[in-house]
Amino acid sequence: MSQLSTRHLLGIKDLTPEDINLILDTAANFKEVINRPIKKVPSLRDITIANVFFENSTRTRLSFELAEKRLSADVINFSSSNSSVKKGETLVDTVNNILSMKVDMVVMRHSSPGAPHFLSKNVKANIVNAGDGTHEHPTQALLDSFSIREKLGDLAGKKVAIIGDILHSRVALSNIFCLQKMGAEVMVCGPITLLPKHIESLGVKVELDVKKALQWCDVANVLRIQLERQQIKYFPSLREYSLYYGVNKKMLDELDKEIVIMHPGPINRGVELSSDVADSEHSIILEQVQNGVAVRMAVLYLLAGAKN
Ligand code: CP
Repeated sequence: MSQLSTRHLLGIKDLTPEDINLILDTAANFKEVINRPIKKVPSLRDITIANVFFENSTRTRLSFELAEKRLSADVINFSSSNSSVKKGETLVDTVNNILSMKVDMVVMRHSSPGAPHFLSKNVKANIVNAGDGTHEHPTQALLDSFSIREKLGDLAGKKVAIIGDILHSRVALSNIFCLQKMGAEVMVCGPITLLPKHIESLGVKVELDVKKALQWCDVANVLRIQLERQQIKYFPSLREYSLYYGVNKKMLDELDKEIVIMHPGPINRGVELSSDVADSEHSIILEQVQNGVAVRMAVLYLLAGAKN
C-alpha cells in the first residue's frame, strides 16, 4: 500500500492500521533524510501550506513548519492572537480567505473539538488536525508510536501506561486509538476525578495506583495536568497531585525492570514528572520531539499524494 485511505488527517480514529504503518514507515525514510548534511527534498515544491493556530503551541507549530520547509513547500503562518478573528471574522471566512491565496493544505490547531472536521466539510483543501480541544492530536500519537517502535521494536504486545490528566487530554485519546490499532495494550492511570467515566469501554485497563501502573508497563507516557482546561478543582493541590501521581526516580529505582519514559510536552517539572526522570537515560522526550519532524513530513507528503 502506498496511499492513505483519507485525504485529511482529522483523527487516529479514522485511520486504518495500514495507514498508520504507511505513515510510520514513510517517517523512517524521512528521518534518514533529515539526518543527512542536506536535509531538504523537493517532494512538495509546488504545494503551499498554511499553519493556522487558534491555540498556543511550541513543538507542534515549529515541527510542522520545519517539516514543510524540509519538503520544500511554501509556508504561511497564521496565529489567531494577532489576526482579524479578534474583529469577529468566522473560522470558515478566515480559512477561505487564506485559501483564496492558492493554499493547498491547512494545518490547524483549535480549542473546539471537531473544528478540523467542520473545516474539512466546508473548504477545499487537505486538512491536518494539529490538536482540537480535548478531542484528538493525531500527529502526536503517530510520533509517540514511531518513538516506541524505534526504541522497543514492533508495537504489538507492548504495554503502554498513559498517566495523568486523561480527562482533558487529546494526546491520551489519540494514543489509545493508535496503540490499540498497532496491537499494543493500553492502561490509563490517574486520580479518579481525572479519568473520563466509562473510559474502560475503549478497551483500556484502568489503574488508580501509579506504582502498579509503572510495574505493569513497558512504556509510561506521562501527561501534564491541563489547568487551563479545568473549570473546577479535580484534586486538592499540585503538591498533593505530585505526591500521589508524580513519577520520580525513587519509583523507577524500585521497579524490577527498566521502562521507557515519554511526555508530549510541555512538562510541568516537579508536578507530573521530576527533573531527574525527565532528564534521565529512561526518558525519550527529546527523541519524541525530533521524531515529530519526520512523522509530520510523512503525513504531509502522503496527504499531498492522496486521491481527492
Ligand atoms: N505536544 C504538543 O502538542 O506541544 P505544543 O502544545 O507545544 O505544540
